[in-house]
Amino acid sequence: MRIKSLKELYNSRNIEDRVSALAARINADYVGQDVVAICILKGAFMFFSDLMKHLDFSPQIEFIRLASYGEGEMSSGEVKLCFGGEINLQNKNVLIVEDIVDSGRSMDFLSKSLQDRNVKTLRIAALVDKFERREVAVNVDYAGFTVASGFVVGYGLDYAERFRELPALYILELEQ
Ligand code: IMP
Ligand code: MG
Repeated sequence: MRIKSLKELYNSRNIEDRVSALAARINADYVGQDVVAICILKGAFMFFSDLMKHLDFSPQIEFIRLASYGEGEMSSGEVKLCFGGEINLQNKNVLIVEDIVDSGRSMDFLSKSLQDRNVKTLRIAALVDKFERREVAVNVDYAGFTVASGFVVGYGLDYAERFRELPALYILELEQ
């Protein structure tokens, strides 16, 4: 399939406003608590770094790689968890920062893996929540935008590893 066009969905100003609004809620919810913020690579890298700049506390910052998608748009249905090194999460307040929650399979898998490590609390921040496409129940505690349908790229989100560098969010249109 060939790429037909990118249609702008939210510009960088819209994103900036949503990210600071989410950070304000996160700041209020974690007053006086130690937090481990985990960036889910690769898609969340831009959202994560902008979100972190707005926090008024100093979290422990970690990175995890979850691989569930192949080259295109379709989920392979398989999720793999890759840590850079071991992270001790026992009795920690963990904030997962993800790019987009779609079927919910990746976040369901990750939440269960982290619960097994006896975390104290676990919340999810996602830039985009495609809740209408959910196949597995996953609650997004901090959602930047809700999108009903379409494939979203830009601001960290990719299609076949492209478009992550774009500062705005777009709907990708493919030629049939
Ligand atoms: P889920 O397991 O179906 O919820 O899929 C979540 C993962 O699939 C996300 O972390 C993304 O990496 C990828 N994904 C799902 N929908 C989109 C999209 O619209 N654009 C880019 N990546 C997506
Ligand atoms: Mg992802």
